[in-house]
Amino acid sequence: MSETPSPQLPRALLISRHSLITRVTHWINLLCIILLLMSGLQIFNAHPALYWGHSGANPSQVLFEVGAHGPKRNPAGFTRVGASTFDTTGIFGVSRNANGQEVVRGFPRWMTVPSWRDLGLGRRWHFFFAWLFAANLLLYLLAAIVSGHLRWDLLPAPNQLRPSSLFRDIADHLRLKFPRGDAARHYNPLQKLSYLAVIFVLLPVMVLTGVTMSPGMDAIFPWLVDLFGGRQSARTIHFIAASLIVLFVLVHVVMVILAGPRNKLRSMITGKFAISPGDNHA
Ligand code: HEM
Ligand code: HEM
Repeated sequence: MSETPSPQLPRALLISRHSLITRVTHWINLLCIILLLMSGLQIFNAHPALYWGHSGANPSQVLFEVGAHGPKRNPAGFTRVGASTFDTTGIFGVSRNANGQEVVRGFPRWMTVPSWRDLGLGRRWHFFFAWLFAANLLLYLLAAIVSGHLRWDLLPAPNQLRPSSLFRDIADHLRLKFPRGDAARHYNPLQKLSYLAVIFVLLPVMVLTGVTMSPGMDAIFPWLVDLFGGRQSARTIHFIAASLIVLFVLVHVVMVILAGPRNKLRSMITGKFAISPGDNHA
């Protein structure tokens, strides 16, 4: 990482933290994830229930469902997870439409592409951004391998994987103690492990299960359907992985806010990150 003393920050050093390709692919990825989530939930609303195995639409085998019951004029929204059912009127199952009236609808309108339950429109948005997302991920991976970013910045060193080192890092995170000064030059072990899990597990699982559900693609790769134990299982895994991405992003953004949003965001936008040499305390 190259270093240039900052003219604005007398005691701080501005180091180059993120390459152009990491920054550009990171923000394209964020755009794709938002639109894939909205269009994915639009698709989900066309049949708001998940199953396991090869066939679905059997009410006795529903794993997860968002729906409505009760009188037609005043229905209640519910969310079913396995054998447990929760009243989720107002958000899931029954929510307000553009005119402020309560209507039966899986996920609310603000979570989907702004339109009525239009499956075709949801699919068009989803498949456009799916290709952009997959190409962007591939570009990021190739650049990370070729530039050594993966080897030097993302893969944890063997000593960082020792239980004592991991426990110290977990304790620091729980006490909201973040590295400063020289120690902040590199990702900490938990950060590395969570980024690796997202880059090499969650995002590829989204692509693979997505491809498994696409009839044209699974004609070319029929083994994919077997790999995930059926088209319905692939759909359920696709949905669970999307939920885990949402969870990751929530924690990720909270960590950015707690660890110094200006400096962290500047580093992901301009590439420059300010450190105060010698200051290693939170
Ligand atoms: C290359 C990447 C992807 C492909 C090829 C893909 C493909 C698909 C397909 C084929 C469906 C079912 C469409 C249908 O039933 O007509 C679907 C649904 C869905 N996708 Fe994706 N997807 C991708 C990435 C993502 C990502 C990154 C997210 C969110 C972070 C996401 C979220 C969803 C959701 C929530 C659904 C609704 C589940 C359902 O009802 O089937 N997808 N996707
Ligand atoms: C509003 C949303 C987001 C914000 C504000 C944000 C912000 C940031 C910042 C500031 C960093 C640099 C951290 C550092 O230098 O210590 C970063 C890195 C990273 N973010 Fe995000 N992020 C967002 C969404 C996402 C999403 C949607 C994903 C993937 C699903 C993601 C995955 C990553 C990964 C993998 C890295 C490490 C990149 C590398 O070094 O190669 N982020 N993010």
